[in-house]
Amino acid sequence: MNPVLIDLPKFLDRRGNLSFIEEDSQLPFKIRRVYWIYDVPGGELRGGHAFRETEEMIVALSGSFDVVLHDGVREYRFYLNRSYYGVFVPKMMWRMLENFSTNSLALIIASTYYDEDDYIRDFEEFKKLKTQ
Ligand code: TYD
Repeated sequence: MNPVLIDLPKFLDRRGNLSFIEEDSQLPFKIRRVYWIYDVPGGELRGGHAFRETEEMIVALSGSFDVVLHDGVREYRFYLNRSYYGVFVPKMMWRMLENFSTNSLALIIASTYYDEDDYIRDFEEFKKLKTQ
């Protein structure tokens, strides 16, 4: 599977807008975990690893940032600045989050429970595993 930008459902309303994500319709996996990244100081990077099994959906609930993915051959870059877009990140993708704006809030929906053994934190090891 390739990374893909998903246009989430949105209800535009003069009282404010509403979007949602449901298993099965917007996600190709069962939700096991939700986490969020916030208060990122200017210039900081998050990520810099791949997951052996975990698949994710990343949404910029507030502010903006870039989701940069690498499959070992090519790079994919998604600029998220609206809360009705989600980036689906398949397993075995090197991933970085960067260029966070002030007060940005990244919501990440994951297909697994947290497990440090699922992380690949060395890019050379990641590339080797991709070509096996
Ligand atoms: P990490 O995934 O390395 O952060 P990022 O990829 O955004 O730079 O996680 C940072 C720390 O938080 C790490 O020590 C483990 C902990 N953590 C959990 O305990 N549970 C979780 O679901 C996540 C994502 C991280």
